[in-house]
Amino acid sequence: MRILVADTFPSGHLDRLGELGHDCDYRPDTTSGQLPGLLAGRTALVVRSTRVTAEALEGADALRLVIRAGSGTNTIDRDAASARGIYVCNVPGRNAIAVAELACALMLALDRGLYDNVADLRAGRWDKKRHSRARGIHGRRVGVIGLGRIGLAFAERAAAFGTTVYAVAKPDRSAQVLERARAIGVRFVDDLPTLARTCDVLSLHLPATDGTRHLVDADLLAHVRPGTLILNTARGDLIDEDALIEAMEDKDVRAGLDVYADEPAGGTGRIESRLARHPNVYGTHHIGASTEQAQQAVADEVVAMVAAFQSGSVRHCV
Ligand code: MLT
Repeated sequence: MRILVADTFPSGHLDRLGELGHDCDYRPDTTSGQLPGLLAGRTALVVRSTRVTAEALEGADALRLVIRAGSGTNTIDRDAASARGIYVCNVPGRNAIAVAELACALMLALDRGLYDNVADLRAGRWDKKRHSRARGIHGRRVGVIGLGRIGLAFAERAAAFGTTVYAVAKPDRSAQVLERARAIGVRFVDDLPTLARTCDVLSLHLPATDGTRHLVDADLLAHVRPGTLILNTARGDLIDEDALIEAMEDKDVRAGLDVYADEPAGGTGRIESRLARHPNVYGTHHIGASTEQAQQAVADEVVAMVAAFQSGSVRHCV
């Protein structure tokens, strides 16, 4: 296969693709704008942050497989791909622990005011009193919205800090998820407003779909308690950013955000989000999955997927 790898990918895994007999063109800095000009003659495409639009696929005369080296596929125009008979596959779960770790880091950092603490010290200011206002995480109630692989990995870690984890009861949860949730001690409540009223921390772990867009809106935020910490390491679209800014101003809600509605396509550029600049936000650059361990595990799966495709089967086709 002629494979375009349009994002950072471990060199050992590129070698493995080569050993499988594929011709790999490694262009880790490909922007979404450049992609349309690069797809002619390619049979497979591996992407992470680069957007795959209908326009990009127009010139994809030989493309049969697009692999998103992550779990979300919202950066790929799946309808346009399927209209051209192109398989779109993702890599679910391999980066779950990395994302859960970042959610924990944001929770602890917000509670301790770590960023402001470090910033003052770097500016030569010592102010122990100002930085001694943390509430502590042990004994808090943490609401996990989305009990997939990442949500459960976060729930496990949050529980290890001595919190009580809550989630919304849903009739379609699998026996496997319920068993893991039970082992973690997750308590179920009836609906999201109850979860918001119950918890001191809310952490989002859902994909971006039409049904989850602006799940956290003014109506839901009306139920959160003053001082609630909101964590979003999933997708920016889950939050109505204006409503969150209002809740920050009215109720001193604080947020740990790794994702934004207007992230620059392709992983580099300017971000205009007012949230990213807000003093109640500790923000990172959509780096939840960006650990060496996670990226190696994702790359293992990408290589396995290409090998499976080559031998006539598809894994994780979405
Ligand atoms: C995912 O969809 O798993 C993450 O967004 C992946 C990433 O940022 O690489």
